[in-house]
Amino acid sequence: MLTYRRGRLFIDGVGAWRLAERFGTPLYAYSKKAILESFGRFEAAFSLRPTTICYAMKANSNRAVCALLAGRGAGAEVVSGGELLRALEAGFAPGRIVFSGVGKTDAEMALAIERAILAVNVESMEELEALEGVARRLGRRAPVSVRLNPDVDAGTHAHVSTGLAETKFGVEKAQAMAMFVKAMRSPHLKVLGIHCHIGSQIATVGPYKKAARAVAGLVRDLEGKGVALEFVDLGGGMGVAYGQGKGLGLGELSREFARVLAPWPEARLIVEPGRSLTAGAGVLLTRVLYRKQTTKRRFIVVDAGMNDLLRPALYGAVHPIWPERRRGGKGAAPADVVGPICESADFLGKDVRLPGCRRGDVLALLKAGAYGFSMSSQYNSRPRAAEVIVDGDDAVLARRRETLDDLVAAERGDQERKRSPAPRDCAGRSDLVE
Ligand code: LLP
Repeated sequence: MLTYRRGRLFIDGVGAWRLAERFGTPLYAYSKKAILESFGRFEAAFSLRPTTICYAMKANSNRAVCALLAGRGAGAEVVSGGELLRALEAGFAPGRIVFSGVGKTDAEMALAIERAILAVNVESMEELEALEGVARRLGRRAPVSVRLNPDVDAGTHAHVSTGLAETKFGVEKAQAMAMFVKAMRSPHLKVLGIHCHIGSQIATVGPYKKAARAVAGLVRDLEGKGVALEFVDLGGGMGVAYGQGKGLGLGELSREFARVLAPWPEARLIVEPGRSLTAGAGVLLTRVLYRKQTTKRRFIVVDAGMNDLLRPALYGAVHPIWPERRRGGKGAAPADVVGPICESADFLGKDVRLPGCRRGDVLALLKAGAYGFSMSSQYNSRPRAAEVIVDGDDAVLARRRETLDDLVAAERGDQERKRSPAPRDCAGRSDLVE
């Protein structure tokens, strides 16, 4: 996807400088080809048993990106009413959408039931009771899957580790069983599956193996009670190689899942990859504003900041930084690439060597297609970046750059309210906006 041609960086067939000139910076650019290829790799790897690949939209919920995956038959994993609306708008089939998260509101659950999604991944007994209440009021049956917390260490950054008993996610085995029993007895709930997601940016199959075995144990116990599940959802979290290192081996993971689930050939496997589908397909283009040198360090100040790409500041993540124009010269002193935000946490790269780098140059932050734009904010009152999709030697705008007017529009009052039709719960209340 990324190549240098005569010293200039290309994203597929389009020069990075052309994108920067045409759409401005900071700019997220995603390769259509790379997104579809990574989906193809998943499909190929997970062909051992009936599998639905539910794209975790939090990684990149841009409508055009989602539409590409929906068009290939992917399902979606959503964690809010907003993501659910986006999923439906992007064309994901409702019957392939699963809804996770520890804090769903009544309005969000009502939306899920009304739109007939595949399942609500329930994460506590109280949530199950709330879901039952919403379904009863709607006169419907809610599709349920229970999220197991298997108490497994995913061996990843603490902020994105979700499978240990001390995290807020899912429920422990005994509680899960109690929830299944309750759901089975309710005329307003329909038990369909079991869910588990132990974390993100997982580098080895080991933790998945432990989690899958814990899930299988519960599936077996349920069988003993005469319950056959329609699906087993083993979550996402497949790690990618950012700088050095290797990503998770999908073939090995698929074989492991197939082995553990062999006793239940009828049950559909669901996986929920986010990062591994889109991270490598995206770059963040930014322009060099200034260079400066203190007695201690060298800095390259660029026009993207932690509000555009939060991962380095939040997780100490390393995104390789490549210059759009390769300049000669050896031995460039290492510099910190920093943004305009008024925080010392605002860095995009540390000790980066960019020979000959000067004002006006364009830089590309790699592997920024996941948790880049989707985690961006307007902090310091900075309009959010534009997003484009590169398709061969063409590029189309997938989200316009926010304007200064966008920053203040929602605070002007009256007329703006009318623009936000939000899902309502059965009592007509909405807690998705306002
Ligand atoms: N399923 C569930 C229930 C999740 O909570 C997540 C991610 C996924 C699937 C997708 O995980 P993935 O395949 O993308 O690793 N902001 C962090 C990542 C947070 C992930 C949260 N949950 C980052 O930038 O590294």
